[in-house]
Amino acid sequence: MNSIDDFITGIPKAELHLHIEGTLEPELMVAIGRRNGVALPFPDAEAARKAYRFSDLQSFLDIYYRATAVLITEEDFYELTMAYLKKAASEQVRHAEIFFDPQSHTARGVAFETVVRGIERALVEGQRSFDITTRLIMCILRHLSEEEGLAMLEHALRWKRWIAGIGLDSSERGNPPGKFKRLFERAQAEGFLTVAHAGEEGGANSIREALDLLHVSRIDHGVHCMEDEALVEDLVQRQVPLTVCPLSNVRLRVFSSMREHNLKAMLQRGLCVTINSDDPAYFGGYINENYLEAAHALQLERKDIVRLAQNSFAASSLSAIHKELYLKEIERYVAEQGS
Ligand code: ADE
Ligand code: ZN
Repeated sequence: MNSIDDFITGIPKAELHLHIEGTLEPELMVAIGRRNGVALPFPDAEAARKAYRFSDLQSFLDIYYRATAVLITEEDFYELTMAYLKKAASEQVRHAEIFFDPQSHTARGVAFETVVRGIERALVEGQRSFDITTRLIMCILRHLSEEEGLAMLEHALRWKRWIAGIGLDSSERGNPPGKFKRLFERAQAEGFLTVAHAGEEGGANSIREALDLLHVSRIDHGVHCMEDEALVEDLVQRQVPLTVCPLSNVRLRVFSSMREHNLKAMLQRGLCVTINSDDPAYFGGYINENYLEAAHALQLERKDIVRLAQNSFAASSLSAIHKELYLKEIERYVAEQGS
């Protein structure tokens, strides 16, 4: 019988909560920074890794946006995205729904099209080389105004053939979902998939607001839902997907340790939970490391891993036929592994 570790590393899975800028490994950041002549707050990759100690979401975002500033050319975005796809495919990710933060680039004078062209070129090549399907989700920075977000939506409309969805990220405190009501209405009217970060640092009320005012299809993080039994009941009934990121939650001190994480309780309660890596270059591991650390700390069993992998495809924006194909692949994998 395979160990749970082998079982996790081999199972086909989808990643639904991944910020492409959060995959910028320190080595690549330093190399691109040198290439583009952008000064960094770290002398080398090792120093950067050492500096990645966060007290909360904002302390992370401050470093993350500074590091992101090395990305300037189409080639930078291409290289970043190719590196992620290669890594993801090696961890049996078959499908990835990838966030990008255009406002963190356009604010520095990088053209919107430079960003999307670089990412898209890698996504097309990634599908050919690594057999990984993808969707691109443009995130709106919630610490900025709705008007600034609406301007981004105009860009997204021009690149609609490459952008499948609209998300909401950045500082949750002080920036409730309701601030972006008009923007999400417009995005839905234009046919975009919509998702929002909620209940990461914010409470259950933030999740409720994202559902009731923004009408999103998925909640990113959502771990604070467990504080509100009526909300949990509703999320279970409607099977609203919650894209949980265990290593991120520990590194950003949403939970004091992995053993304190409520992922297993969420699963046991019947919520449609998935495991994802958020910003893997900053939080100590990609998707398999998230599954592995959660499994070890919370004593997850094979049936939990199977459920999480099934949920990841079920919660994706893939067509019903594609979901069925991937779910069948999981079934075959489980049968091959024996009990
Ligand atoms: N941007 C990148 N990672 C994020 C996170 N975990 N929460 C909110 N915004 C983010
Ligand atoms: Zn995130």
